[in-house]
Amino acid sequence: MLEHLKPQPADKILMLMQTFREDPRTDKIDLGVGVYKDPTGLTPVMRAVKAAEKKIWESQNTKAYVGLAGDPAFLDGMIGLVLDGAVARERIGAVATPGGTGAIRQALELIRLASPEATVWLSNPTWPNHNSIIKYLGMKMADYRYFDEASRGVDFSGMMADLQGLKAGDVVLLHGCCHNPTGANLDAAQWDEVIALLKAKGAVPLVDIAYQGFGDGLAEDGAATRMVAAGMDECLIAASCSKNFGIYRERTGILMAVARDDAQAKLAQANLAFLNRQNYSFPPDHGARIVSTILGDPVLRADWEAELEEIRGTMLGLRTQLADELRRLSNSDRFDFIAHHRGMFSRIGTTPEKVEKMRAESGIYMVSDSRMNIAGLNAETIPILAKAIIDAGV
Ligand code: LMR
Repeated sequence: MLEHLKPQPADKILMLMQTFREDPRTDKIDLGVGVYKDPTGLTPVMRAVKAAEKKIWESQNTKAYVGLAGDPAFLDGMIGLVLDGAVARERIGAVATPGGTGAIRQALELIRLASPEATVWLSNPTWPNHNSIIKYLGMKMADYRYFDEASRGVDFSGMMADLQGLKAGDVVLLHGCCHNPTGANLDAAQWDEVIALLKAKGAVPLVDIAYQGFGDGLAEDGAATRMVAAGMDECLIAASCSKNFGIYRERTGILMAVARDDAQAKLAQANLAFLNRQNYSFPPDHGARIVSTILGDPVLRADWEAELEEIRGTMLGLRTQLADELRRLSNSDRFDFIAHHRGMFSRIGTTPEKVEKMRAESGIYMVSDSRMNIAGLNAETIPILAKAIIDAGV
């Protein structure tokens, strides 16, 4: 049987991780996979996470199953964090999932159950695993323009023009904040226009929010998702705790289905629990319990928010320093977009050949589409990267 298997296409982010590991150069710089690193290169366990784990270790007296949907305290805590009362709790079905990817996967499976013919629209570009999972599930897919290669901002008129092609029941995947891979984001007025268009077309938004707190702040980064939830009759929201709680390997995420009314929310809830049972039964609990412990304890929560703010401030500082250095070296403001982008990533907008040149000559690893992880930089590596960008002729 196994001989019938075919090699599967490699994920370009994970492939880059592997190539980086195998590179013997000691001065190599990893700007690939989206993981926060402190100035020493460590991805730290956050203080509140350590404290929550201690609390759990001391008080937990069983590892028996929780529920198919996950721990209610986690679900309520995350719904509060993301939606902050934007819609009535009774209108929301929710399940814990293995990470944000698990939430996306379950969202797509729910869409396929409800409406197998729906087309899922993705921003061009988007996180490559979006395309990959949709293709794997055999669903219809379309894309809408998103990134303006010239300004490195959002091509909003292109996006709106492409979304004119939506049919009723189609699903539009939107990044709630900190767009991955570009770093370019819609402003509030543009979100209003997108919501109005989706409503007029009868389309359903699927919001992927994986970096809340990494852009302009926890509340600010949740604002667009709340606008969508409050403005639409129905929407799906996939949220990740990997980055903002720094619990990547614990695989902690949530899928929310905001329904028209309580009865439909109950139906969605039952279907979400069913999907969990089919795919992996009970969702992982440890990371979810860390999150609910932090969110439910005012002292831990305040410390978590403070550390998240420190992380966000560090990344914003790196953006400014890199933009300043590039302004100095290029004697122009054409790289100022780096300071305006938000989140962990910026797409510098260059060819795979120039990205490869920077890897070969300077040991700089960014994704071939020229996405770089800003959090992979520090004061020492910024001048090296800036010089490599200019030398490569970007
Ligand atoms: C990324 O985009 O680098 C992260 O979301 C990690 C991943 O799983 O790809």
